[in-house]
Amino acid sequence: MTDLVVRRLLVDMKAPIARHWCAGDPFRTALFNALSMSFPVGEQFFIDSVRRGLKALPAARQERFRAEVQGFIGQEATHRRLHSLYNAHLEQSGLVNEWEARARERLQLLEGQDVRHWLAITAANEHFTAILADFLLHHPHLLGDRDPRLVTLWLWHSAEESEHKCTAFDLYQAVGGDHAWRIRWMKRITTIFLLDTLRQTLSNLKHDGTLWRWRTWRSAARFLFGREGLVRRTYRPWRAYFRRDFHPDQQDAAASRRWLAEHAHQYVPAGA
Ligand SMILES: [Fe+2]
Ligand SMILES: [Fe+2]
Repeated sequence: MTDLVVRRLLVDMKAPIARHWCAGDPFRTALFNALSMSFPVGEQFFIDSVRRGLKALPAARQERFRAEVQGFIGQEATHRRLHSLYNAHLEQSGLVNEWEARARERLQLLEGQDVRHWLAITAANEHFTAILADFLLHHPHLLGDRDPRLVTLWLWHSAEESEHKCTAFDLYQAVGGDHAWRIRWMKRITTIFLLDTLRQTLSNLKHDGTLWRWRTWRSAARFLFGREGLVRRTYRPWRAYFRRDFHPDQQDAAASRRWLAEHAHQYVPAGA
C-alpha cells in the first residue's frame, strides 16, 4: 500500500503561455502541448476506472485499496484541473485539440464493458505515463528555462505519476485481470497512444506554422533518437511490461522522491 499525498501546486496558471515556451524549441513545445491536451479526458477515465475497480471488489478487500484510490483520484483530479487551465491558453493561441474528441468517441465504446478492460487500459496508459515521467525527471533540462512555472508543472506531474504508478495495475490484478488481456491491451494502447501523440503534435506544428522547418525535424530526430533520446531511454522499461512477473514497483522511483523532497516549497499538501 502507498500513501499518496494530494498536493496543491503553487503555480499561477493565469498568465498566458509563450508560443515556444519549451526552450524556444517548436518541436518539443508542440509535443508537450499535445500530451497536455490528452490529459483532462484521459485522467478522468483513469479516475472512473479505479473508482469502478474498487467498487467491483468484495467489501472485505476494498479496505486495502480505499486510501490509495482516494489519493490516486485526488492526484489525477489536480492534474486535470491544472492541465485544463494550461490547455485553455493553447486554445486561445490557435491550437486545436483534436485528440480529446477522438478519445471521447473511443471511450464511449467501453460503456457497459467489464471493469477489467477499463483497468487494463488504465494500467497500460499509466505505465506509459510513468516511463515518460521518469525520463523527464532524469532530463529536466529538456523543458528549458523560459517558463519556470511550466517546468514545475511538468516535473510535479511526472513525480506524482511515478508515485502512483502501481494503483491501477494492482487493482487490475485484484479484480482478477489476467496476463493475456494485460498484454493485449498494452499492444493496442501503444499503437493508439503513439499515433495520437504523433497526430496532435503534427497538428500543433501545422497551426504554429513550424511544421515544414528543417529545425523542427532536426530537433525531433535528436529528441527521439539521439543518444539520450526518448526512444532509446524508454524502450527497455516499456518492454518490461510484457514480462509475466512484471510489477510497476520494479521500476525505480528515486527521481520522483528526489524531486518531491527538493521542491517541497513549490506545493502544499492538500488539507494542510
Ligand atoms: Fe496525471
Ligand atoms: Fe496517473
